[in-house]
Amino acid sequence: MTFEEAKAKLEEFGQLHVLKYYDELSEAEKADLIAQIADTDFAVVDNCKNLGKSQGRGEFAPLAAMQVSEIESRKEELFSIGAKALKEGKIAACLLAGGMGTRLGSDNPKGMYDIGLTKNVYIFQRIIENLLDTVKQADGTYLRLFIMTSEKNNDATVSFLKEHNFFGYPEDKVTFFKQEMAPASDYDGKVYMESKSRISTSPNGNAGWYASMLRAGLRDIILKEGIEWIDIFSVDNVLQRIADPCFVGATLGAGVSCGAKVVRKNAPDEKVGVMCLEDGKPSIVEYYELSQEMMDAKDANGDPAYNYGVILNYLFNEKDLYEISKKSLPLHVVEKKIPYIDENAQLIKPESPNGCKFEQLVLDMIHELPSCLPYEVVREYEFAPIKNKEGVDSVDTARELCKKCGIEL
Ligand code: UTP
Repeated sequence: MTFEEAKAKLEEFGQLHVLKYYDELSEAEKADLIAQIADTDFAVVDNCKNLGKSQGRGEFAPLAAMQVSEIESRKEELFSIGAKALKEGKIAACLLAGGMGTRLGSDNPKGMYDIGLTKNVYIFQRIIENLLDTVKQADGTYLRLFIMTSEKNNDATVSFLKEHNFFGYPEDKVTFFKQEMAPASDYDGKVYMESKSRISTSPNGNAGWYASMLRAGLRDIILKEGIEWIDIFSVDNVLQRIADPCFVGATLGAGVSCGAKVVRKNAPDEKVGVMCLEDGKPSIVEYYELSQEMMDAKDANGDPAYNYGVILNYLFNEKDLYEISKKSLPLHVVEKKIPYIDENAQLIKPESPNGCKFEQLVLDMIHELPSCLPYEVVREYEFAPIKNKEGVDSVDTARELCKKCGIEL
């Protein structure tokens, strides 16, 4: 792209301020900025006008979960189906570690955070330890572990894991890939600049993982290794079980496109997304979309009908994902803290949200699939998310939960 073409593109989208410092830049910086302008989809920032507005949803209906009582009573059967698939190498895991972790507020990737008290216990370490439990249950069969990073945290993530010898996971079983980025803007849709020569960008949400895997050419590995299912999970739940045999067995045995780990809600109005049907297809209703009527609805046993919250741990059938991958997912607008340079070109790291990021969400991915099994896990054993520095879902709450599970910190 030439300078003139870049200028015309910016003009078309009302973003000419991006060139404010162009004349001051070195030749290399000029080339980088022009390349970034060429790569950036400025049309997405138009979505900022939808901030806080409902996206318009379909008709919701309950979707029954496989409950702990059933899982317990069918444990042997589920375990044997799952362990067989694991030993046959049909299952892979994918760690979603591309997020910015802005609420935690650490400059490093979230997985590098040390939650230890008497020794180092890094979040990545906890995750690998949990994955190694699955390996043990599969008689030593290592799963392929994909790790999604973003251009912002890839180098730090890769070098940290290498430095720590992948916490005992074989390096040749680990494959990194980077997710796509989207520009970040102020509330009027003007993109922020993070330096004189760089537009502020942020990772495009946790649902872009499969498209990013395809773009990175990783389907070759999937086909070559005979991987049929991929368990995706978030970086910040330090207690989660990953592709554990019973979950795998329940999902495969149910003949669905996807299994979703869920926890029983603490209260009808708890702030979690709830697994449900939307227009007859699996979906997730956000807590603020739950009407009083839905909160009061009961199933055949008299239990709340919308009672199972998602914890960002899903087992997807890879062929079904490939089928739906031709459709592009909508971008949602989220309010976040976005570092930017001010009128004096000083970098500002805001204390409170100052603009919009644009993200693809997993719920839209689930909704494209024909079927999904919500699979209940016990919150105290499998759900210790670290989102915030203090208070709810923080390092302290996660430490407490780890301690109760006998994990030394
Ligand atoms: P969160 O929604 O908690 O986002 O991510 P975040 O970016 O990590 O944290 P905040 O909101 O800025 O504080 C849930 C999971 O999805 C991953 C995160 O790394 C985490 O594992 N994620 C999120 C991505 O991989 N890419 C993204 O673009 C967003």
